[in-house]
Amino acid sequence: MGLLSIYFLLFISFFIHANSTTSPQYNAIFSFGDSYADTGNFVKLVKDFLPSVVFDNPQYGMTYFGRPTGRSSDGRLVVDFIAEALGFPHIPPYLSKDEDFTKGANFAVIGATALDLDFFHNNNITSIPPINSSMNVQVGWFQELKSSYCNTTESCREYLSKSLFLFGEFGGNDYNFLLLAGKTIDQIKYSYVPTVIDTIKLAAESLLKQGVMHMVLPGNIPTGCVPIVLTMYGSTNKKDYDHLGCLKEYNTIGITHNTLLREVVRQLQDKFPEARISYGDYYKPVIQLLQKNERRLNEYPLNMETECPGAGAGAGAGGATIEAPLRVCCGGGGPYNFNLSLVCGQPGSIACDNPFTSINWDGIHLTEAAYNYIAIHWLKGHSTIFTSI
Ligand SMILES: *[C@@H]1O[C@H](CO)[C@@H](O)[C@H](O)[C@H]1NC(C)=O
Ligand SMILES: *[C@@H]1O[C@H](CO)[C@@H](O)[C@H](O)[C@H]1NC(C)=O
Ligand SMILES: *[C@@H]1O[C@H](CO)[C@@H](O)[C@H](O)[C@H]1NC(C)=O
Ligand SMILES: *[C@@H]1O[C@H](CO)[C@@H](O)[C@H](O)[C@H]1NC(C)=O
Repeated sequence: MGLLSIYFLLFISFFIHANSTTSPQYNAIFSFGDSYADTGNFVKLVKDFLPSVVFDNPQYGMTYFGRPTGRSSDGRLVVDFIAEALGFPHIPPYLSKDEDFTKGANFAVIGATALDLDFFHNNNITSIPPINSSMNVQVGWFQELKSSYCNTTESCREYLSKSLFLFGEFGGNDYNFLLLAGKTIDQIKYSYVPTVIDTIKLAAESLLKQGVMHMVLPGNIPTGCVPIVLTMYGSTNKKDYDHLGCLKEYNTIGITHNTLLREVVRQLQDKFPEARISYGDYYKPVIQLLQKNERRLNEYPLNMETECPGAGAGAGAGGATIEAPLRVCCGGGGPYNFNLSLVCGQPGSIACDNPFTSINWDGIHLTEAAYNYIAIHWLKGHSTIFTSI
């Protein structure tokens, strides 16, 4: 282990220590969003009409849980790492009705959009699957569950003021479905991104008005660096790619979205000065991982209890390196190891031996190691939200 990893281990144990002993704890964590945050809702939601869901097959979950859990990764997601760092259990998916929600609930659903299904239907956008799981639907689920924590306006204000809200990521899927429907990047940036941002702002504001005091609004990842996008919208013109091999124009969608979302964070913070609202950056950490492709992912602890798996025999002071940062760990061939006809979780797909040496897990979602890196970035950057209430 290098000095750096010791620093991060100390850093993480500081959070655990700080929260289990001295500072008051959050009473609950509520999480909303899409596949970057779903810990099992989608699989439950579609089980009656979709016979087989790849996310419910091996190799999903292979690194941490040892079985598929409905998470779109080989292991834990950012929400799991944050829960652990704050001394919480993993936050159960709301649609698993038999779970214990006393410490919070996760409403995120794979594929969820910020805009409602009706918006897409009214605009003749048929690329969206008929799954009713948008941001407002998730907020509706939260309102249903709320009465198990509090019943009067005042007691709910009191309760919610002590809870942590991870509200997003939202928007990435809206833009994916719009691209699939043939909308241009300019149409998306100038017409749809502002609509998505306004919708997110309204929903966040409605929660803040109910008394929420601690909220993180996560932004989009760099879409132009996602292997499914690189595969579907690849170009023969080298000028379309940046020095990392990402499609420049596609990244401008996320940049536009994130710039406006940061502005919303500032506006909401002004309007609710007592609350602590922060932006959760998925974009920069992913670019950092891609940039420093010699960076040893396992310089960062994969979890709090165990040694970094990459630091084994022959690994020396470093261990696993990211050799092809845009290459998918679990896939079915092709330049990025992403194959639309043979995706991760389908029989015949193959996962790499060491997912902690990859950034991307299945062509769309990140590996546990990458989510861990992002979670550390958030915990470090937003210590006012994550250390105490
Ligand atoms: C959607 O399609 C219908 C039927 O083709 C058309 O009448 C309507 O104007 C379209 N709406 C939009 C928003 O494009
Ligand atoms: C989605 O669910 C919400 C809340 O349950 C409901 O109001 C809405 O009509 C549903 N939308 C569709 C298109 O089914
Ligand atoms: C709120 O009211 C409902 C219905 O009367 C009840 O089941 C629930 O236990 C109450 N919740 C709290 C936190 O008291
Ligand atoms: C993608 O998968 C299909 C179906 O298994 C296979 O026939 C094809 O060769 C694969 N493509 C590449 C580039 O490996």
